Parts: sequence; C-alpha cells; structure tokens
Amino acid sequence: MRGIVYVSRAAATFDDSALTELAAQASERNAELGVTGYLYFERDRFVQYIEGNAEQVTDLMSRIEKDSRHEVLHQIRTDDVEKRRFPSWGMKKLVRSDLVEIRLEHLLTDHLLFLHKLPGKKDDWGQCVWRMVERIAEFQTRLGRAPA
Ligand SMILES: Cc1cc2nc3c(=O)[nH]c(=O)nc-3n(C[C@H](O)[C@H](O)[C@H](O)COP(=O)(O)O)c2cc1C
Repeated sequence: MRGIVYVSRAAATFDDSALTELAAQASERNAELGVTGYLYFERDRFVQYIEGNAEQVTDLMSRIEKDSRHEVLHQIRTDDVEKRRFPSWGMKKLVRSDLVEIRLEHLLTDHLLFLHKLPGKKDDWGQCVWRMVERIAEFQTRLGRAPA
C-alpha cells in the first residue's frame, strides 16, 4: 500500500466549521476510494496523511495538490505501508488539543537515532531536531520553571 504525508499552507482562514465540512466531504469520498488517514490543521498549516491502494492514493494526491484552498509545500511518499495505520479513520480531523497525548520527546528520540545511522551531511536534519528542542523549550513557561 502507498502512504503519503504532506504539509501545506492554507490560502485562506479555515474556521472550525469549514474544517469539519472539508473533513466530512473528504471522508465520504475516501470511503469510496478505500483511502484512510487524518487531516491536522493548526494556524495556516495542514498536515495530512493518506494511505491505501497506490493508484487511488496517487490520484487523490494529485487532486489535493490542485486544490486552490492550499499550497502543498512538501510531501513524502512510501510504498512500504504493510497495513493501514488508521483503518477506522476515513479522514479524521485533528486539532491541537487532540494531539496532547503525542509526546514530543518520542519524536525527538526517533530523529536522533535516525541521524545516528545516517551517513554524510546531516545539517538540514540537524536543524529539524533543533526546532524540536526549541518547541520543547517553549513548554517551559507552561510546565513551570522549577527543576523536576
Ligand atoms: C487540505 C485538504 C485536504 C483534502 N483532503 C481530501 C481527501 O482526503 N479526500 C478527498 O476526496 N478530497 C480531499 N480534499 C478535497 C480535494 O482537494 C478536492 O477538492 C476533491 O477531492 C474534489 O475534487 P474534484 O473536484 O477534482 O472531483 C482536500 C482538500 C484540502 C484543501
């Protein structure tokens, strides 16, 4: 199966009802195509993951890329999806509060271990890791400054 994840910039503001409608229409269509995944939105950024039959996923992605409501900035695809990661989500709308359970330290650990194995120039990846460290640092004010 094919999986694609991308980040895009919204052309206009999406309020919650516009987002809910977009996800509902997408779910309906995706059910017909046998595509599953999630759609995350925050500020002016979409992150979407779609998975399913290679041809269906590619066709859907080319439609999504042509959609003037956003501009796709970067996408990564793989054909190594052995089984669906989101079998019960036709196109689940996710917002920030849904993601509080996802721990940034896990992402950071994965990135660092990946870099450890990667030969050659790592500057760009390194920047990505530092951005995560910065994000964690931003939590300081919310978590309090006292040592653990
Ligand atoms: C951020 C974003 C995500 C979208 N995700 C999907 C999706 O998962 N499935 C879908 O059918 N359409 C999705 N759409 C809508 C498609 O871009 C397109 O408008 C729709 O598939 C109808 O295409 P058509 O007019 O060529 O038939 C999405 C649009 C945006 C802006």
